Amino acid sequence: MDTQSLYREELLEHYRNPQNFGKLSHFDISSKQSNPFCGDHVEMFITLEKDKIKNIGFDGRGCAISMAGGSMLTEFAKGKTKEELTSFSEKDMLALLGIEVSETRKKCALLALSVLKDCLYGVKSKS
Ligand code: FES
Repeated sequence: MDTQSLYREELLEHYRNPQNFGKLSHFDISSKQSNPFCGDHVEMFITLEKDKIKNIGFDGRGCAISMAGGSMLTEFAKGKTKEELTSFSEKDMLALLGIEVSETRKKCALLALSVLKDCLYGVKSKS
């Protein structure tokens, strides 16, 4: 199996068994966004301990890339501080997904990151 196939397999596994899926019963911040082109949406819930993400969950529905993105990103973000995540860029998100993403699927790939940034810094990406 080549590297791209391995990454694709990992992504599909996150889609089939998303980590941190579901609304948290207690949370400090939340935000949601939709992809205007397809109507898919992601909502994220975060509990903070000082500046650190103590717990994080996401909910929503969407394509394999957007849902796997929510799963992978919440796994990555858990336990990190707001400061540590400041520099996590769109390029980093694409690298985390590990697959080639076409221009038309970029919005899917970056949906979860946009919601996370909105939660942490109140920054909504343009749509
Ligand atoms: Fe809707 Fe991917 S097709 S987010």
